[in-house]
Amino acid sequence: MDTGRIRNAALARKVVPADQAAALIRPGDTLGMSGFTGAGHPKAVPELLAQRITAAHAAGEPFQVDLWTGASTAPELDGALAAADGIGLRLPYQSDPIARQKINAGEIDYVDVHLSHVAQLAWEGFLGPLDVAVVEVSGITEDGQLIPSSSVGNNKTWLDLAERVVLEVNSWQPAGLDGMHDVYYGTALPPNRRPVQLTRPGDRIGVPHLRVDPDKVVAVVETSAPDRNTPFSEPDDTARAIAGHLIEYLEHQVSVGRLPAELLPLQSGVGNVANAVLSGLQESRFEQLTAYTEVIQDGMLDLLRSGTLASTSATAFSLSPTAIADFNAHVAEFRDRIVLRPQEISNHPEIVRRLGVLAMNGMIEADLYGNVNSTHLMGSRIQNGIGGSGDFARNAYVSFFLTPSTAKGGAISSIVPMVSHVDHTEHDVSVIVTEHGLADLRGLPPRKRARLVIDNCAAPEYRPLLTDYYARAERGAHGRHTPHLLAEALSWHTRYLETGSMLPG
Ligand code: COA
Repeated sequence: MDTGRIRNAALARKVVPADQAAALIRPGDTLGMSGFTGAGHPKAVPELLAQRITAAHAAGEPFQVDLWTGASTAPELDGALAAADGIGLRLPYQSDPIARQKINAGEIDYVDVHLSHVAQLAWEGFLGPLDVAVVEVSGITEDGQLIPSSSVGNNKTWLDLAERVVLEVNSWQPAGLDGMHDVYYGTALPPNRRPVQLTRPGDRIGVPHLRVDPDKVVAVVETSAPDRNTPFSEPDDTARAIAGHLIEYLEHQVSVGRLPAELLPLQSGVGNVANAVLSGLQESRFEQLTAYTEVIQDGMLDLLRSGTLASTSATAFSLSPTAIADFNAHVAEFRDRIVLRPQEISNHPEIVRRLGVLAMNGMIEADLYGNVNSTHLMGSRIQNGIGGSGDFARNAYVSFFLTPSTAKGGAISSIVPMVSHVDHTEHDVSVIVTEHGLADLRGLPPRKRARLVIDNCAAPEYRPLLTDYYARAERGAHGRHTPHLLAEALSWHTRYLETGSMLPG
């Protein structure tokens, strides 16, 4: 297969079938793979590696690898390797159901770190050496530079740090992606850090291509396979109501002069509620907005096309099949208005703080005082991971956390006396939104926060229970600053585990 995508002669000579490339990976290797929200992951080597691992296990030979990525990938990477019992340790964010099940069974070690921290942790040496980088690119230039594909993630770091490099050149990726990326090579470790000179979401401060030492490249594989497709459901009434409260709040903040008419750069988490917010913005009066975010999902393309969004910066795409087709057909139209960066820059706390990002992320549950759990079900079972939510929440101008007020058909309240796991403390959470309303917690002491969260955000069937808990805590706690009845604070979770519902009786 010659797709014309490999224009460097020396690297073209390293093209091998994918199974030969997979055979270069050894038991015990640590792999740095590309991939971020189902975009830009290697399409061929991981599945063939999984087959090798399965064969080794059948022959009674141990074979596992440690796996680092950008974020979540796809069934043919995380799913295949997890199903083969091939992953010893996994980091960072992941959302594959098979891997999740193995993590929760204690069979895969999972290190859930802030996405902006991964590269520096690797450079600082805390994670140990990186044996092999397996990175998808959309092409190789004459002088051997790599044209990134639909995600940048941690690829720069993996290519720089790995002892050996396997490249997958995917001709399915649009050739028009070339020029859309901004790879910043100015990061360093303390005490040699310099300010990252990015002052607007659309700024370009780096170069369009990734570099690789050609001597480290042990194999080049040609592929032509699509990114993982994520069909979005139409927002339901609950998601629409959440989006409605959020947009009304933004309009109000503009009307009282706390936000400019074009707002501040938006960060939007992934999922259907986030997409509903983007759809809501489409129907709003806002225009010429910007986004400084992690992933570009369907709604953002619509916003770019209508002019509601002037430009957007991210590290990856996360598009449905329809949106991918639309994007591929109109790459030129989008190229100047989309910048894809390494995730250490797309999620950089210094930049998030400087730009004053409006961060909007989903959550599992929040408590009366504004502590937020984004990752764990009933304290112990991980759902996905913290992703970039902490990078943004801690440093945002306003940090919104959004959720339906109940889960599992009403058997679970997303507003609880005390969260069963803490990802974002009360100090990093500005506004909580459910379909019932919004609680702006900024500047409020804990007891005022509790009243607002109960009255504005809790589901009606849980409101009297929360009011009762809070009233008794106010009377019975051993301090009145943040009143809790410790013996009871997590009883809603234990009741759910014992009876299948947080509701008593
Ligand atoms: N208690 C227990 N389970 C709950 C729950 C709660 N309070 N709230 C939701 N769940 C369950 C749901 O029932 C569902 O389970 P199911 O798959 O068995 O049906 C599961 O958790 C996922 O819930 P859903 O409503 O489908 O979630 P979502 O797709 O809107 O995602 C998060 C919500 C929090 C899981 C997701 O936003 C996330 O992973 N966030 C962390 C990372 C992040 O913020 N990334 C963006 C940063 S840029």
